[in-house]
Amino acid sequence: MKKIAIACDHGGYELKLEIIKKLAELGCECEDFGCDSTESVDYPIYAEKVCNAINEKKAELGILVCGTGIGMSMAANKKKGIRAACCADTFSARMTRLHNDANILCLGGRVVGAGLACDMVELFVTTEFMGGRHEKRIALFDETRG
Ligand code: RB5
Repeated sequence: MKKIAIACDHGGYELKLEIIKKLAELGCECEDFGCDSTESVDYPIYAEKVCNAINEKKAELGILVCGTGIGMSMAANKKKGIRAACCADTFSARMTRLHNDANILCLGGRVVGAGLACDMVELFVTTEFMGGRHEKRIALFDETRG
């Protein structure tokens, strides 16, 4: 059973609830790091919780939801070991696992509907990294870090 860490801000709260249901249907174990309502909060705080869960190996993959998915991805990608992909289509959600070994999917609650988001989540959690020629490129992220 895959362990998934999930969090959101107020802009992603409603979509997060739908995604949590989808993860249960997929048989994933899901840990929710908040927030817990549509009351305004600061998304970097929640991005960090999911990044820490991944880096501490408490979860294999993460999902972050804000209004656009962009702020969450920017905050998450500051952390070593994190490869967060902000996606709004199913092709990208699949390819970012295959080629980029993305470990966090970022979604915009004000950008995509629940149906599309849940399809992206399914592809993201069921697709494995291809490895091969992509390994070296992933390693270069750390080597070229500023
Ligand atoms: C909050 O209003 C909004 O800025 C946030 O959810 C997100 O879209 C940031 O990138």
